Amino acid sequence: MLNRLVLWLALPWFLGACTHATDTQRPPVALDASATRVPPKESPELLQSIAFGSCNKVDLPQPLFRQLALEKPQLWIWTGDVIYGDSRDPAVLSQKYAAQLQQPDYASFLASGVQVIGTWDDHDYGEKNSGREYPTRAASMQLFLDFVNEPKNSPRRQQSGIYTRYRFGPEGKRVKVLLTDNRYNRDSPGAQADILGAEQWQWLEKEMLTQDAELLLLVSGTQVLPADHRYEKWADWPAARQRLIDLLARAPYPNIIIISGDRHLAELSKLDLPSGKTLWEITSSGLTHSYQEATDAVSPNSLRVGPLLTRLNYGMLQIDWKSSPPAVSLEVRDINRAPILQQKVPLAR
Ligand SMILES: [Fe+2]
Repeated sequence: MLNRLVLWLALPWFLGACTHATDTQRPPVALDASATRVPPKESPELLQSIAFGSCNKVDLPQPLFRQLALEKPQLWIWTGDVIYGDSRDPAVLSQKYAAQLQQPDYASFLASGVQVIGTWDDHDYGEKNSGREYPTRAASMQLFLDFVNEPKNSPRRQQSGIYTRYRFGPEGKRVKVLLTDNRYNRDSPGAQADILGAEQWQWLEKEMLTQDAELLLLVSGTQVLPADHRYEKWADWPAARQRLIDLLARAPYPNIIIISGDRHLAELSKLDLPSGKTLWEITSSGLTHSYQEATDAVSPNSLRVGPLLTRLNYGMLQIDWKSSPPAVSLEVRDINRAPILQQKVPLAR
């Protein structure tokens, strides 16, 4: 009788354990990212047109990719939240990446021949506002790299995080893109807490202090400069943010533009450093959904230049190498491809 009672009480646990085991053992879907023209790689081709965007839900319409296919940028930079995976089961993430690769508007954008690179933020990493404590980060990393068609033998797959560098363009007209990883080694927020981890800092310092391009683009999923709002941002790790700003100040690049996403809104921020150097940050977020109620009261930013934009949007950088001096136009565009935010920045020599 007692044996039967124990068996009866244990049955729900046994069934639950079986279900859980089945879930975690479900293999991730193999991703076919071959629709991208070639695996992302550095190129001597002159780079004049870059587009970027973030915060993209697979189960929502993605009308901006139809417009992006018409824009024909040479380079597309994912700046985080490619999917809303939000799961500790890698199979859930891979299914959403596979669905994104098959999404018709995105697929036709890829077919336009655009080169695709990118980094992640929290939702594609796998869990809202998560960092190094996220238990399936290693599997998550390989899936993201599959999605951007990173070769299987790439050293990037062996790192502690998906940070990487690309250089585009011929000597004298070169753009260097540094993609940071704000998740893989990120501590919980705190005064002395870190975001990048020792390995990535070492890499970033080396890249920043080596001047081998005319324009440096630093890509971060979360915002670097804006410090006044209550949402996640580098300023929640003040020591790490200061370390980054000090490094940007020391870097021998006269022209540095930060690109970020995450916020479901778009804005331009500007920080004048004591050295006389100016840092620009263009935030574009909301490819499929946006924070339409956002106002300056709920998202203050004392460094903002121009409007706070809450429509669906993508970002563009148009580089005019022929003007004297060369200049880059920082833009945010809406569904009509209209630049709803535009700032021309001359490139200092
Ligand atoms: Fe998002």
